[in-house]
Amino acid sequence: MTTMAIKFNETEKIFSIHTKNSTYQMKVDAYGFLLHLYYGRRTDGTADYLLTYADRGFSGNPYDVGQDRTYSLDALPQEFPCRGNGDFRSPALDVKTADGVYGCDLRYAGHRVSTGKYSIPGLPAVHAGEGEAETLEIILKDEAMNLQVCLLYGILPELDVITRAVRVQNDGKDSVFLEKVQSACLDFVGGRFDLLTFYGRHAMERNMQRTAVTHVCQRIGSRRGTSSHQYNPLLLLAEQDATEEHGACYAMSFVYSGGFQGEAERDQYNQTRMMLGLCEEQFSYPLAPGSVFHAPEVIMTYSGEGLGQVSRNLHKCINRHVCRGNYKNLTSRPILVNSWEASYFHFDGQTIRNLAREAAALGVEMLVMDDGWFGKRDDDNSGLGDWHVNEKKLGCSLKELVDDVNALGLKFGIWFEPEMINEDSALYRAHPDWALARPNRKPVRGRGQLVLDFSRKEVVDAIFDQVCDVLDQANIEYLKWDINRSICDVYTHGENSQETVLYDYMLGLYDFLERLINRYPNLLIEGCSGGGGRFDAGMLYYTPQIWCSDNTDAVDRTRIQYGTSFGYPVSTVGSHVSAVPNHQTGRVVSLKTRGIVAMSGTFGYELDFGRLSDAEKDEIRGQIATYKDLAGLIQNGDYHRLSNPFTDETAAWEVVSEDKDEALVFAVMLEIHGNMPVSYIKVRGLAPGALYMDMETKKTYSSDILMESGLPLVAWFGSHQSFYWHLKRQA
Ligand code: GLA
Repeated sequence: MTTMAIKFNETEKIFSIHTKNSTYQMKVDAYGFLLHLYYGRRTDGTADYLLTYADRGFSGNPYDVGQDRTYSLDALPQEFPCRGNGDFRSPALDVKTADGVYGCDLRYAGHRVSTGKYSIPGLPAVHAGEGEAETLEIILKDEAMNLQVCLLYGILPELDVITRAVRVQNDGKDSVFLEKVQSACLDFVGGRFDLLTFYGRHAMERNMQRTAVTHVCQRIGSRRGTSSHQYNPLLLLAEQDATEEHGACYAMSFVYSGGFQGEAERDQYNQTRMMLGLCEEQFSYPLAPGSVFHAPEVIMTYSGEGLGQVSRNLHKCINRHVCRGNYKNLTSRPILVNSWEASYFHFDGQTIRNLAREAAALGVEMLVMDDGWFGKRDDDNSGLGDWHVNEKKLGCSLKELVDDVNALGLKFGIWFEPEMINEDSALYRAHPDWALARPNRKPVRGRGQLVLDFSRKEVVDAIFDQVCDVLDQANIEYLKWDINRSICDVYTHGENSQETVLYDYMLGLYDFLERLINRYPNLLIEGCSGGGGRFDAGMLYYTPQIWCSDNTDAVDRTRIQYGTSFGYPVSTVGSHVSAVPNHQTGRVVSLKTRGIVAMSGTFGYELDFGRLSDAEKDEIRGQIATYKDLAGLIQNGDYHRLSNPFTDETAAWEVVSEDKDEALVFAVMLEIHGNMPVSYIKVRGLAPGALYMDMETKKTYSSDILMESGLPLVAWFGSHQSFYWHLKRQA
């Protein structure tokens, strides 16, 4: 980096954080409060003139401002609002003493600037090389409790990304309870915003909802112990007239896979506050003297150029600075076939070999044996917790099976659900107290199973040993890590505090995953939770791809992948071509359309090739060749949403190489009507004044006309037709 991204003006006590296109400003005021000044387009100016003071009824004044009734934290924009200092809006921090006294008073106590990016012990976080990032730590103190709150900022100037995290340290003599700790808060003194959130359900995740930020607290979150299908831990704030290409937009993405909450509210003076952090319910974290609590990280980004750019900033950050390991790049990910929709629980070793043989002949690179290979597991009522190969069912050892699949030229992958236990399992019979369950109550079952207590180290260790034992038996190069229920019974039979179970559970999970990737650096792990129920930047630190949804219907997938694209790059989106009629919806869509939709992800198949015609197999060979050819462009290119498949009659999206030399435009017609009007898809992000050639038809197009008037989707007959153009700039 040539210039320091973090500047502190000693006289004005103003912090300015600069990225390539944005500036973030805070000020330590005369009383030591840390006020937020500005987040927006890059500037060398100072924004402290935005602060206004007035005597506001029912907005209290800190004692040390004396008779100045115009000073109230209830009306000033704050960097890290806490309960107890006169701000009645939703706090980012709420602390309680053992005597039941709520609130604290945080004042600036110092700061540190360093090169490189901070990390967080035990938790996933954005990583960056020394020269790629800078860290700012601002120390705030509550004198009465002797509590230290450190606000951490990680700046990646090139990507317009600022990360935030919080460390709370109890330097006092008594324990305190953290009742709420949010990781990032943004206060805006004015503006009119929309909030974009991503709600859903099993098999229909991440539907985008855009609502005005008004005088009502909008709060989304998950109290399920996982980030959930129901809401994604991603918030976007956009100026009300912002579009894909225009307007100021902000994003917050939580690097955490457990419960969370996000809030946005317009206050009494039309100021907006937006926050993201841990779920405050069932959270009362006891912080003993001398101990430290780490709140997980939030990735923030700003763009003055619309929602598309905010997404692209997040894509780059996740691709380059969240995902890790040998499989970080999409180009290194094998094209796989997964056995689940091909045979569900009903297979033996021969079924797997047959699938592998068919797959090898088509150019598929890996076979994944899904659920059903272990313990007593012929349906979903038993076996979880017993990670022993069922050789009787397979008819051979795992090594024999894997060797056979390898001999066909395919890698081998396997499914696990390590966090779960069935009551009908040897593990449960031996350790019933390892399942989360409240005393004197029967636990709530989900898919007939219970949740293992990953807040306990001995439980994590025991499952870790079992998983390693399987992985050590054969040449296994991929692991699908599933979790198929929400956590309900929050009670540990171990030694940890009951108040910290859900947080400690996540530390246990992350510890397991960290150990696993250290021990097997060549193992590709795909995350999964009944599809995309734990699709978040936290998991992506360990698993560079996540099964996006249990819904493989290509039409529904255009919507699910549209919503997912707001926060997550294509390289993270597990996406497979499956059979028709589709197993989730019964819909019949052409193989071409299924291929085009699955290609905007980590491509694979999820069907029995043995049931396909020769013509279909030929088409699949072509799809695989095309995907291999395009994977680099799909991974590294800039992603543009060209339509909204929830409201438009088409689903259309595009990837453009960074040098703008190549573009891929994809479209699926969602509607067909008699005497159908033609839809035109406007292409984005091309070099102006250039000519681009369609590599298939060799037809040449003017980039200006492509961007002004678009490409025609000519579909007179037949449902869900799809289109794809590979455009190359002409010299
Ligand atoms: C979940 C996953 C599926 C499959 C099944 C196996 O539902 O999302 O892909 O692995 O579990 O039980």
